[in-house]
Amino acid sequence: MVLKPVEARSHQAPSQLERHHLHRDEKFRNNRPALRWNNSIFQRNRGKSRRNVFIYYFCSAYSLNKKIMDNILVIGSSGQIGSELVMALRKIYGNDHVYATDIKQPTLEIRNSGPFQILDVLDFKNLLHFLVRYKITQIYNLAAVLSGNAEKIPLQAWDINMKALMNTLEAARQSDARKIFWPSSIAVFGPTTPRHNTPQLTVMEPNTVYGISKLAGERWGEYYHNRYGVDFRSVRYPGLISYKTEPGGGTTDYAVEIFFDAIEKNSYQCFLKEDTALPMMFMDDAITNTIRLMQADGNKLSLRSAYNMAGISFDPKELAKAIQKHLPDFSISYKPDFRQAIADSWPASIDDSVAQKDWGLKTEYGLDEMTRVMLEKIREKLSK
Ligand SMILES: NC(=O)c1ccc[n+]([C@@H]2O[C@H](COP(=O)([O-])OP(=O)(O)OC[C@H]3O[C@@H](n4cnc5c(N)ncnc54)[C@H](O)[C@@H]3O)[C@@H](O)[C@H]2O)c1
Repeated sequence: MVLKPVEARSHQAPSQLERHHLHRDEKFRNNRPALRWNNSIFQRNRGKSRRNVFIYYFCSAYSLNKKIMDNILVIGSSGQIGSELVMALRKIYGNDHVYATDIKQPTLEIRNSGPFQILDVLDFKNLLHFLVRYKITQIYNLAAVLSGNAEKIPLQAWDINMKALMNTLEAARQSDARKIFWPSSIAVFGPTTPRHNTPQLTVMEPNTVYGISKLAGERWGEYYHNRYGVDFRSVRYPGLISYKTEPGGGTTDYAVEIFFDAIEKNSYQCFLKEDTALPMMFMDDAITNTIRLMQADGNKLSLRSAYNMAGISFDPKELAKAIQKHLPDFSISYKPDFRQAIADSWPASIDDSVAQKDWGLKTEYGLDEMTRVMLEKIREKLSK
């Protein structure tokens, strides 16, 4: 279901989707258990004043209404994370309540299962208009230029990454969409950070434009929380591994490319050295934990910058060995490029005990299990 851009429709009669939403809201209102202001309510609350009982029931009905009616906007929904996150959110909140938006077309699965609209997060007016028009209560903002691509266009990448975040924070402050998820990255760490079991709080001197923008973003998120009460939540994703959508130009992309080449060519040329260990995570674990953080009790969150997220740490040689258990003739060669310097500045492993304690971060996939699923799913995908 594709929505037309907001601007083009602002003075027109309600679209089919809007009529559908009006009908849905109407149905919801009609089916809500009626609060009958008869004596039984007051009898059940003997000893309390009629005024207080009324306020109590009014507030309960209001919060129930708000809970059921959560409307979620995903910005950057056509990318590697967005295309899986949207589907997971639609399963939980209902297809109609999760609005997918991007500047490029979505997967068929997203297009056919719920609302999608082209929306540029850099266009503040349209973004704010969207939040108000569709009564958005939560935003997941995934739009960014990733590490590898950002090094090719540093000034543009800085502008895009910062404006995408600042527009979202400011639009949230000015609307009811007060809860925001915005991903940070292990790129916030730099060459002076302890490389092994990197703590939550440590030296942070990133030397890539992507890392600098993520660190600045974490600071701004915390600032908007402290100053304006925006419910900002974030994690420092490790490299994410998935089979559904191509990765978007990051330094950990090798860990996805290798599976496709293994099945198609039985060999892979890696752009990192064989012993470059980095923290990685299977997409299912990343999505589950992202939603877990967003559903966590805000009072239990001791951090409003970004939580470390460890996943599994391995280097290209270890990943190749895991693949060889399924494809014994698979071979790997190494030809490091400019991304080697980026990887060398990042941690090899991460300590995420604070996230475990605050909101129950936990992962299910180890290296072998992830390898098995990746090979199986990519084989299925390529044979279609
Ligand atoms: N994938 C990873 O391994 C990883 C690791 C750490 C952090 N992250 C972060 O997670 C987020 C999403 O990553 P991803 O891998 O899905 O990236 P991706 O490049 O695959 O997807 C990003 C999406 O944002 C869209 N986009 C770009 N500019 C936009 C704009 N102006 N308006 C609206 N949409 C726009 C792109 O079209 C793309 O579909 C990013 O913030 C990234 O920095 C990703």
